[in-house]
Amino acid sequence: MTELNQLFCDRVQPQVLGIHPYIPGKPVSELQRELGLTYISKLASNENPLGASPNVLTAVQAALKDIARYPDGSAFELKKTLSEFLGVKTEQLAIGNGSNELLELVARVFASAGDEVIYAQYGFAVYPISAQVVGATGVEVPAVDWGHDLEAMLAAITDKTKLIYIANPNNPTGTLLTKNQWESFISQVPKEIIVVLDEAYIEYAKSFDDNNHYPDGCDYLSQYPNLLISRTFSKAYGLASLRVGYLVGGGEIIQYINQLRAPFNVNHFAQVAACSALSDQVFVEKSIRLNQQGMRQIKEALARLGIDYIPSSGNFICIDLGDKALEINQALLKEGVIVRPLANYGLTQFLRVSIGTQVENQHFIDALKVVLKNE
Ligand SMILES: Cc1ncc(COP(=O)(O)O)c(C=O)c1O
Repeated sequence: MTELNQLFCDRVQPQVLGIHPYIPGKPVSELQRELGLTYISKLASNENPLGASPNVLTAVQAALKDIARYPDGSAFELKKTLSEFLGVKTEQLAIGNGSNELLELVARVFASAGDEVIYAQYGFAVYPISAQVVGATGVEVPAVDWGHDLEAMLAAITDKTKLIYIANPNNPTGTLLTKNQWESFISQVPKEIIVVLDEAYIEYAKSFDDNNHYPDGCDYLSQYPNLLISRTFSKAYGLASLRVGYLVGGGEIIQYINQLRAPFNVNHFAQVAACSALSDQVFVEKSIRLNQQGMRQIKEALARLGIDYIPSSGNFICIDLGDKALEINQALLKEGVIVRPLANYGLTQFLRVSIGTQVENQHFIDALKVVLKNE
């Protein structure tokens, strides 16, 4: 390192130096460059394999003429559409550049050095990063059965706790919290501690919920003013590239999130697309049905191969490949299949596979068979 670079390094905030950056799924173009492959199935980022609703494509195309204008910084239309969809007031909403931005903003609003932020082991990677960015202490509570141990999370609360992140279902493990578990937990959290309930995969979770056990976070907003629900258009709505998500809060706290938000944080096309996507619930239904079929297809194949997995309520599944997981990941890449290794989560024996189309899922299954045979 040059002397000047060392000087810059010395000036970087210490909490930034300690951050382990978020590791995204490998892009298709990267694998194309690296291995010269043309037939690739990307099952690594829990995207919608159907793309987005055709109505969204039409709406975004029509909006292109406004490309030189700044977007509506207040996201008026999107908030209006969302408020009708959810049955909440527009003042209860904050729109973000992906829900990722909002998850981080909550930490910036409510925590700083000396505070504690609680999340679960194997919880979404953005939670520890969000705590670290603001210099707060991340408190990782050991998981039980690969999911949140809510009793232990309650026990981890101290006078320094400012914020708790919970994902339902959890990513990457796909585990689900039931209504009973959630209600018991939220009723015991002190009212001044902010709880973020991350429902990025709510549409899929509800589709698997035959017994009506899934707690829809919005049902609890009026009772718990310290609760924020986080949702996204990146998954079932198929808008991952546009980056748009939202927070819903019951009480006053949402205004502080909006206060800190960058003036034009959500671009015009994302706003137009999200409005259009919300109004095409038939597309969402189709996406959910495809996911149910794909989950069945992959689970049946895994059962035939004798491979264990963590039961999932999302659009992805963690499969247990023991100490061969990383090798198998490399071999799958050579077969043109991108899945997600989870060593950065401490889940070294697992690969997370996003549910794709029937053809993509079969590509994965066939590739896995080839790779296992060559082991
Ligand atoms: C649990 C969870 N929350 C939030 C996000 C962030 O999604 P986005 O920023 O695309 O809205 C993801 C993305 O994978 C996720 O898995």
